[in-house]
Amino acid sequence: MEIKLKYDTPAEWAKQVVENIDVFLQDHADAERKVANMCLSLIAKYPDKRDIIADLNQIAVEELLHFKQVYDIMYKRGLTIDSEFKKDPYMKGLSSIIREDTQKRLLDRLILASVAEMRGVERFKLISEVTEDKELKKFYSNLYLQEKEHVDIFLQLAERYFSTEEVESRLEEILIKEGEVIEYLPWRPAIH
Ligand SMILES: [Fe+2]
Ligand SMILES: [Fe+2]
Repeated sequence: MEIKLKYDTPAEWAKQVVENIDVFLQDHADAERKVANMCLSLIAKYPDKRDIIADLNQIAVEELLHFKQVYDIMYKRGLTIDSEFKKDPYMKGLSSIIREDTQKRLLDRLILASVAEMRGVERFKLISEVTEDKELKKFYSNLYLQEKEHVDIFLQLAERYFSTEEVESRLEEILIKEGEVIEYLPWRPAIH
């Protein structure tokens, strides 16, 4: 199953991020921990879905490793992580697409996770292309490839409990919504 985002982030976005990279790194550190939290929350909410737990756990481990890598960069730069997560207008904008029904909710959360990872892939790649900092270029060009694997895994997890047709049609709806939300968000030194 192939994901094609409905809105392409302009390279100009990455130029602005690179000019405010210290602020961006703080948001990025939060984002990695949020994805790990989201995986753990899915495990807690759906303990009966035994065929996805090991993979969710593995993604959480990988996201925490990403957090460690971002934090190591921040530490070298003398940056401190914030004591609480900042508001996330992207996820707030997308939350209305998540349905109430327990089973449909699982499908929506897995697909949304995949789409949000794809946005990360797009934007980490742009940063890797624009930054002239050698350490950041190397870090982000490796990272976007790793996040691309998560894009695929979240969709595969959805297919373990839902039909391909159901996953595909819901994916299309969520991609449309994501494109609408991100296109109108003001640019910030943040992944979304
Ligand atoms: Fe990550
Ligand atoms: Fe990821």
